Amino acid sequence: MHNASLLAPEVRRRLELSLAAAAPELKGMPKRDRQLFELRCERFFQNLHDGLSPIYGRRADFEAFVQRLVAMLARHYRARPEALKLLDIERDLTPDWFQHESMLGYVFYVERFAGNLHGVLEHVDYLEELGVNYVHLMYTLRPREGENDGGYAIADYRDVDPRLGDIDDLEHVCRKLRQRGISACIDLVLNHCADDHAWARAAAQGEARYQDYFYMYQDRAVPDEFEKALPEVFPDFAPGNFTYYPAMEKWVWTTFNAYQWDLNWTNPAVFLEMVDIMLFLANKGVEVFRLDAVAFMWKRLGTDCQNQPEVHDILQALRAASRIATPAVAHKAEAIVSPDDLIHYFGTGRHYGKVSNIAYHNSLMVQFWSALASRDTRLMVHTLREFPRTPASIAWGTYIRCHDDIGWAVTEDDAAAVGLSGPAHRAFLSDYYSGQFPGSHARGAVFQHNRKTGDRRISGALASLAGLELALELGDERLVALSIERILLGNALICGFGGIPLLYMGDEIGMTNDYRYTSLPENAGDSRWLHRPYMDWEKAARRHDEGAHEGRIFAGLKRIVRARRHTPQLNSAYATDVLDVGHPHLLVLSRPHPLGELVGVYNFSEGAQDLDSGVLSARGLNQPFDQLTQAFVDVSRGRFNVPPYGRYWLI
Ligand code: GLC
Repeated sequence: MHNASLLAPEVRRRLELSLAAAAPELKGMPKRDRQLFELRCERFFQNLHDGLSPIYGRRADFEAFVQRLVAMLARHYRARPEALKLLDIERDLTPDWFQHESMLGYVFYVERFAGNLHGVLEHVDYLEELGVNYVHLMYTLRPREGENDGGYAIADYRDVDPRLGDIDDLEHVCRKLRQRGISACIDLVLNHCADDHAWARAAAQGEARYQDYFYMYQDRAVPDEFEKALPEVFPDFAPGNFTYYPAMEKWVWTTFNAYQWDLNWTNPAVFLEMVDIMLFLANKGVEVFRLDAVAFMWKRLGTDCQNQPEVHDILQALRAASRIATPAVAHKAEAIVSPDDLIHYFGTGRHYGKVSNIAYHNSLMVQFWSALASRDTRLMVHTLREFPRTPASIAWGTYIRCHDDIGWAVTEDDAAAVGLSGPAHRAFLSDYYSGQFPGSHARGAVFQHNRKTGDRRISGALASLAGLELALELGDERLVALSIERILLGNALICGFGGIPLLYMGDEIGMTNDYRYTSLPENAGDSRWLHRPYMDWEKAARRHDEGAHEGRIFAGLKRIVRARRHTPQLNSAYATDVLDVGHPHLLVLSRPHPLGELVGVYNFSEGAQDLDSGVLSARGLNQPFDQLTQAFVDVSRGRFNVPPYGRYWLI
């Protein structure tokens, strides 16, 4: 080994002991493979170690634990298929692959998009036509029977839902997608497993070893202490954070539904189990893990038990494990938390840039809907300007709709800064998007009315929330046109912000709410199924008909996607600056770039708005050229006239 500089001496000693312990796994491997593994250990063992030692370092068995872990990494590395090892090298050479301006994600329930895993392959042409090179296959691993929170209660992480296929099908589909240039992402639910997972069943049968995989209490004393500071995620259908199991005579920590048991990450055995699973799935060809509900992974009395520093330690260690054994893989954190908490999922301080590659930009999504309802961008501009800087090595996942509800994450401080009341604005947004506000164009539904805080989250499809459902019902062509402009405004924003735009299935053809979920007993109580429709392939067949709304949306989106690919300024490595131009209806974004700055202009109102062209000339744009329409824009009269819901990417 060489290049000793990266490892502290004590850590080097641990690595050497660990590699010695992993020798049986490494033996028999081709020499070059073994050398690559050792080089990657040299590079990332420090990150791994620094993530693990704050959480497990004081345990007497820490040394042995690290050795077992490294042996596990070596075992999976050895089992890694040759094609994936080559991809590893490709990604070592191009570690910024997921930041490229050509990246475009598409998110769907496998069953609802294509029937089953093999069905997905029949729709690759459709995905390619859109320009998709990343798919999030939802609801893939085997969930519990019956209610399962849309697939987020996993009974077996090494198996696929039998209705969709089996683990070999997953491998096959990942391989075929990869050959067509599409990376597959699946969920890895880290915070909890299903109550019928083998670990939970063993725990329920009283096996102490498995009871330690969970948080279990004899009586209410500790749970009551925790509850004092704990919020409720599903106050309507799963109030409280603990569930009593009479057969065990124990309270089990269940942040989400009663059948989702929180895993005890203070137990290093849980860490080892999850690494084993993660690398197993990576070797099946999964390229991106969406790490579900990570904010909740560490509990601390007296806090809301979210975003604890140990969560970032664990995520850093998981990240390092992937970088050593399966380097092609990227990690995407699902932390739907406030901006100040969110930034830590990319790593701050000692974790800087080491935690996740990708994280959802929940705030951008919330601010999009807020500005659209109020026709006012001031809260959005203020909130986004306050956002902490992100490391240059990451990418946001930018989205306007996903399979979950919209929670109005608007802080009191941000609201007050622009003269709003937080509670009143949040109440307005809930009224607006549930269609109760007079004159609202939106059709949505309330999800989880929290009677203690008054919060009402919102469900609904992009098209319905943007006004298409109502417009079609009224047969009002002007309203249809406006709603399409809103949909394209949102898509231009997520494609032009910087990050990986994540399109949600059906939004590309303006699919509206699906009210049939109420007839399925296991879904009826959960209004999120309103916007989890079955793909309507008949509608999709109208995507080339520019007279139909499906075709107008699809074509508009394709123009945006095509422009994005040819706009290097949209590479995620460059920062987004939100400009304060003092205009209440416009959002103006700047992306400085060595090839020249890009200025994005977005109009959030149904009236035309003037932007002082001095804003553009101050940034060197005297003759602005719009990447979206491939035309120069007129600034000759000292102003740039932006039409209703207009969007521009000016260079
Ligand atoms: C994530 C999922 C959501 C699920 C929750 C619990 O937030 O997106 O659908 O309910 O985790 O697993």
